[in-house]
Amino acid sequence: MRAAHLAALKDAVGIGGKAAVGEEHRFDALPELFVRQEEKARSPLRRRCLGHALSSLRSFAFGSQYVSLVDIPRAKHRFAPSAIFGLGARLRIRNLDREARMSGGYDDRDGKIWLDGQLVEWRDAQVHVLTHALHYASSVFEGERCYDGRIFKGVEHSQRLRKSAELLDFEIPYSVEGIETAKYAVLEANGWSNAYVRALAWRGAGPDMGVASLRNPVRMAVAAWEWGSYYGDAKMKGAKLDIAKWKRPSPETAPSQAKAAGLYMICTMSKHAAEAKGCSDALMFDYRGYVAERTGANMFFVKDGEVHTPLADCFLNGITRQTVIAMLKDKGLTVHERHIMPEELEGFEQCWLTGTAAEVTPVGQIGDYSFEVGALTRDVAESYEKLVRA
Ligand SMILES: Cc1ncc(COP(=O)(O)O)c(C=O)c1O
Repeated sequence: MRAAHLAALKDAVGIGGKAAVGEEHRFDALPELFVRQEEKARSPLRRRCLGHALSSLRSFAFGSQYVSLVDIPRAKHRFAPSAIFGLGARLRIRNLDREARMSGGYDDRDGKIWLDGQLVEWRDAQVHVLTHALHYASSVFEGERCYDGRIFKGVEHSQRLRKSAELLDFEIPYSVEGIETAKYAVLEANGWSNAYVRALAWRGAGPDMGVASLRNPVRMAVAAWEWGSYYGDAKMKGAKLDIAKWKRPSPETAPSQAKAAGLYMICTMSKHAAEAKGCSDALMFDYRGYVAERTGANMFFVKDGEVHTPLADCFLNGITRQTVIAMLKDKGLTVHERHIMPEELEGFEQCWLTGTAAEVTPVGQIGDYSFEVGALTRDVAESYEKLVRA
């Protein structure tokens, strides 16, 4: 099992103990045992028993895959125990306490959400149906990841949130520092040091119910939750992407550098269409027909040892994209930011995508074009994993 695999596993459950790579043992019966235990583990008493049982186990085999773990399953924070289940060649890692806490819909969970300057109970973070943003998409947001207690590029995300609001003609009534404080308050209130953080601001309900909304209050919220590897298995073997029928709009049609809710309407439709075809997501072209981005991530391609990435002139110039470009240049690689024609996909050897949620995810297929998960892709993914925790 490679370090990248293991890091993905650690991400998925937030295992806090040390993990050893390479020392492999075979326990064919264990996957079945864990599946049986999963059924039993629903009562708190049995969950505790399972925790004890797992504490004594150090090495596991999952069908054809193996992993040796040291000092697990106590999770780093207070959400022990974790349990690991092997199902054939697929891996599933479960943290039972976390699941109990997070098993409801996103509106029905335990925990705290920061809303307009205060921490409120998760279920009480509500808005009225006549909220302007709900009708006219006057909303901007950020997706961030906290690694070991530190939000990677947190300030840049807060700055972009404020900038996105400005592009939509409203001002967030909190400074960058204020937004940073809110994000860490949420993490602390929920006891998380590894989590996805969602900050958002929107035009609320008030005297205006037409398109104009100058008299309505600007509201803001920050929520956080544990969100593992975005693509699960695809992170290791390469995501399979469809090609979307929807195009990224011209910057004269929409504020393309804003992370604005309205811009995601075509992303949701593209992603649904892709999933219906058995793909995990979709690549979108832009209004001119150039290769643009995935529905929520930027694209990179490799050919003859050089890297090519679409010029971000009508879609989000992602913070991860900028980080990875700088990283590649530091490694001495040539990076071409340019317009890329769809027919060029045939000549590219490797492909990966970048985004805060997706991190660096290899792409194995786009439509009929295939890519290898090559050495450079793996190297970038591993370097990024190290950087975010550095
Ligand atoms: C449409 C879109 N493009 C690109 C990105 C990547 O941006 P970042 O790396 O800043 O997360 C995202 C994710 O936020 C996105 O939603």
